[in-house]
Amino acid sequence: MRVTLHQLQVFEAIARSGSFTRAAEELFLTQPTVSQQIKQLTKAVGLPLFEQIGKRLYLTDAGKEVLTVCRDISERLSQMEMTLADLKGLKQGNLRLAVTTTAKYFVPRLLGPFRQCYPGIKIFLKVTNRKRLLDRLAENLDDLYILGQPPENVEISLCPFLENPLVVIAPENHPLAKEKNISLQRLAKEPFIMREPGSGTRMAVESFFANKATLNVEMEIGSNEAIKQAIVGGLGVSILSRYVLALEGTRGPLTILDVEGFPIQLHWYILYPATKQLSIVARTFLDYLLDEGKRIAAQVDLDLRNDE
Ligand code: PGA
Repeated sequence: MRVTLHQLQVFEAIARSGSFTRAAEELFLTQPTVSQQIKQLTKAVGLPLFEQIGKRLYLTDAGKEVLTVCRDISERLSQMEMTLADLKGLKQGNLRLAVTTTAKYFVPRLLGPFRQCYPGIKIFLKVTNRKRLLDRLAENLDDLYILGQPPENVEISLCPFLENPLVVIAPENHPLAKEKNISLQRLAKEPFIMREPGSGTRMAVESFFANKATLNVEMEIGSNEAIKQAIVGGLGVSILSRYVLALEGTRGPLTILDVEGFPIQLHWYILYPATKQLSIVARTFLDYLLDEGKRIAAQVDLDLRNDE
């Protein structure tokens, strides 16, 4: 059956307006052209599409069937138009992300598969601590933010993302490494390396220990990686996200101590200002994070737990 889109378009205009003349005017065609298109369509269908009773034009059963198909096709065409417009938007554009230092252990690896789908998108990733990230949020500097412990008194859209367990990390040869259910008081005797003020990790550690024990803080370091090195160097133990061990696991020079009440179970959230209109790029990345991204990041944590 050789039916063309043009014939269907002419047919739909006649069916809607009930007149060959009005359809011709609407489509800027001559009457003979309109009649010719319908003649060819009728021939292709093999049945009459209209019947004329008096001055009025009625659709035959075949005509009704063709009209249903016409509407389906035009619906699909407008969907295609929308999708193509979105794809053009995704061909280029910027994605600005700000994540806390704990989230940097999985966010960059999630960017890989996303960028493979949308290679034209330029990604800017800012890694900083909770306090500085909230400052950026207040200044509306980024599209999306990933952090633990969302702020209060700020109007935000909030999507819970993943669990972020905080664990006690020590050198593998630490005297407590083989002990089970170590008490908080015992842990508090160890030299402790604390994150800097403004860190969400520090905030969580301080509130966990508030009424339980006083940590023996001997050092303050503003970087998870530097803390890991300091632990290997024998300077003390620390409490960090389990994700900081994402690459080396616990088979390297670091181990996780079995301390009562641990892990401290925190959560990561993806958030953005409530009034912000997300770009098509940011919206697509958010959807990707909540679906595929969640799966990939959860696998990182699963591998770590299997490793322990
Ligand atoms: P931070 O991260 O310690 O780098 O601030 C913790 C968080 O995600 O809140």
